[in-house]
Amino acid sequence: MKKKVLITGGSGLLAVNWALSIRGDYAVTLILHHKKISLSGVDKDVASLDSLDECSSVLAKHQPDIVIHTAGLANVEECESDPDLAQEVNVDLAKNIAIVCSDQGIKLVHISTDHLFLGDQELATEESITNPVNNYGETKLLGEQQVLENCKDALIVRTNFFCWGAKYHQSFSDFILNKLKKNKQSNLFSDVYFTPILVDELVKKTHQLIDSNAIGIFNIVGSERMSKYEFGIKLAKHFNFDSGLINKISINAKSSLVKRPKDMSLSNKKLCQVLNCEIASFDEQLRTLKEQENKNADNQVVLDIIPYGRHYIDEDDIQAVVDVLRQGAYTGP
Ligand SMILES: NC(=O)c1ccc[n+]([C@@H]2O[C@H](COP(=O)([O-])OP(=O)(O)OC[C@H]3O[C@@H](n4cnc5c(N)ncnc54)[C@H](OP(=O)(O)O)[C@@H]3O)[C@@H](O)[C@H]2O)c1
Repeated sequence: MKKKVLITGGSGLLAVNWALSIRGDYAVTLILHHKKISLSGVDKDVASLDSLDECSSVLAKHQPDIVIHTAGLANVEECESDPDLAQEVNVDLAKNIAIVCSDQGIKLVHISTDHLFLGDQELATEESITNPVNNYGETKLLGEQQVLENCKDALIVRTNFFCWGAKYHQSFSDFILNKLKKNKQSNLFSDVYFTPILVDELVKKTHQLIDSNAIGIFNIVGSERMSKYEFGIKLAKHFNFDSGLINKISINAKSSLVKRPKDMSLSNKKLCQVLNCEIASFDEQLRTLKEQENKNADNQVVLDIIPYGRHYIDEDDIQAVVDVLRQGAYTGP
C-alpha cells in the first residue's frame, strides 16, 4: 500500500508542485484553506489549522504517515504590515501541527526558509547564528523553534525553491519568463544572492532524508550561489530568450521595500554528507523545468470556480486594466 502524505498550504506554490512530483508514488492529500483547487490523482480536504482541535481532527481523519507543512505567510511585505497574521500563520500553525504530529506519531516535515540570517555571509550552515532582519524571517525562526520544542522527530527544511506556478499564483521564474515571452524588460537584483533549487530536486532529497530517518534542521538548496540577476540571465539563456531584456539593479535603490538579507545563500554540505549524494546541477534543474513546461502546475491545477465569477485575476486581466488606463480618454484635462 502507498504511504499517505498530507500537505498543508495545499493551494500554495510549493504544495502543488510537491503533490505533482510525488502523486505517483504516494497517496497525497492537499489541505486547502481559502483557495479551493483540484489536482488529478490527489485528494483534498478543507481545514483551518488555527485551532489545535481542528488540526488534531483533520490529521486523525486522514491518518497520514507524513505531513509536509508548507502553509505559511511567505509575503515579506505582508508579514511586516500585519505582524499578528504573520505570528498566527508562521508560528502558531507550526506549533499546532507539531503538537498534533508528535501526539499522533506522524513524521513531520516543516518547511522553513533561507531568510533567517543577517545576510552578510555566504553559504550559511545549519549551525550559523540566525539573525533575521524582518518579521518574515523572525516569525519563520519562531516557527522552527516551536517545531523543535514540540515534535522531537521533525525534519526542518530550510530552502529557497523555483518551480512552475498555477495561473492564480506565479512563481519567481514565471514572472521572469512571462516578461521575456512578451519581450518586456525586467529589473533584477545583482546584489541579492541565493542558492535556488527546483522543487522536484527539493522533494527528492527531502523524501530521501525521511527514508533515512533524519531529524532536525537541514538546508536543502542548490549547489550554486547566484544573484537574482544571474538567475534571470541563466533562465533567459536556457529558454532561448533575449537576456538583454534583463536589467541589473541594486536592492539599495529600492528603499520602499521591507529590509531583506542581501546574502541568503545556504550550504548543502550536511545534506550531501548525510545522503552521500550530490545535488543536480543548476543547468540540469533548468532542463527539468523546461521539460515540465507543458505538464506543469499551470496546466494541471484547476481552481474550483464558483458559477458567477473567478477567484483570481491573471496577467491578462492586469494588462487589460493597464491598457484601459493608457487610453487617451483618461489622460485628457
Ligand atoms: N516562495 C518562496 O520562494 C519560499 C522560499 C523559501 C521558503 N518558503 C516557505 O515555503 C512555504 C510555502 O511557500 P509558498 O510560496 O508555496 O507559499 P504560498 O504559495 O503563499 O502558499 C501558502 C499556503 O498557505 C496557506 N495558508 C495561509 N494561511 C493559512 C491558515 N491560516 N491555515 C491553513 N493554510 C493557510 C495558503 O492558503 P490560502 O491561500 O487558501 O489562504 C496557501 O495555500 C512557506 O512556509 C514559505 O515560508 C517559500
